[in-house]
Amino acid sequence: MNFLQAIQPDRVPAHVAVIMDGNGRWAQKRGLERAQGHIEGVNSVRRITEAACRIGVKYLTLYAFSTENWNRPKAEVNALMGLLVSCLHKEMPLFMKNGIRLRIIGDMESFSPEVRQAMNEALQHTQGNTRMDLVLALGYSSRWELTEAFRKMAGKVKEGRLQIQDIDAEKIAEFLATSFMPDPDLLIRTGGERRVSNFLLWQIAYAEMYFSPVFWPDFTEEMFYESIVEYQSRERRFGNVPTKPAEA
Ligand code: IPE
Ligand code: IPE
Ligand code: MG
Repeated sequence: MNFLQAIQPDRVPAHVAVIMDGNGRWAQKRGLERAQGHIEGVNSVRRITEAACRIGVKYLTLYAFSTENWNRPKAEVNALMGLLVSCLHKEMPLFMKNGIRLRIIGDMESFSPEVRQAMNEALQHTQGNTRMDLVLALGYSSRWELTEAFRKMAGKVKEGRLQIQDIDAEKIAEFLATSFMPDPDLLIRTGGERRVSNFLLWQIAYAEMYFSPVFWPDFTEEMFYESIVEYQSRERRFGNVPTKPAEA
C-alpha cells in the first residue's frame, strides 16, 4: 500500500509530536557505540521533517533531549550536545528551503553557552519562515514546564496581575512553553516502549497515540505516512457521542 497516496489532504493533523526513541538500541544491536545511533537518528529527523512538511503538517514537535537525559553518562551527553550544535548549523539549508521555522521548548538555561548560542542563531535565522514550525523539545520535561508555569502564575497572583477566578484551562495553557501552538493531534513514539516519559502531559489530553516498534534511525517516511493514515481512520470524540451514530 502506498500510504502517501492514501492520506486525505483535508484531514492532515495540524500538530504531530514525536518521541524519537530507540537510537541507543539501534546502535547496540549493531555492536556500535550508542552515540552512533544518535548520529544515524539525525537522518530520520531530516526525513520525517521533510515528510511532515510535504503533507502540510503545521507543527512538528520532536522530543530530542529530556530533563532526565542529563543523567546519562557524560560521554553520551557530550556526544549529543556536539551533534546538536553541528545539526543546527548543517540543517539550515533544509530549514530555509522548506520554509521551516525552528522553535525550542525546554530549559535553554540548562545548556552551555556554546549550545545556547547555536540555538539562538537558528531561532533568529528561521523566524521569518511560515510553512511549518519544527519544535525541538530540548532540556524539556512536562513537570519542568508545569512547575515553571505554576511559579509564574503564583507570582502574578501575588502581584495582583492575575485573579484566581480568571485561571482556567486556557489561561494555564498560556503559561506553558507550547503557548504558541495548538495541542498535538497525534503523538508518535518509536522504539517499542509504550510510555510518555514526561512529554507534553497537559497537551496530549486528547491526542491520538501511535506506537511503533521500529527504532528511530529505521523510521522511514512511509512509516510516518502510515501513522497519518491510521490517525485518519480513528474517530476523535473528545468525550462526546459519535457524530454519526452506529446503525442499531
Ligand atoms: C532516544 O533514543 C534519543 C534520546 C533520548 C536522546 P535513546 O537514546 O533513548 O535510545 P534507547 O531507547 O536507549 O534505545
Ligand atoms: C524519551 O526517551 C526522551 C527522548 C526521546 C528525548 P527516553 O529513552 O529518555 O525515555 P525512557 O527512559 O525510555 O522513559
Ligand atoms: Mg530511550
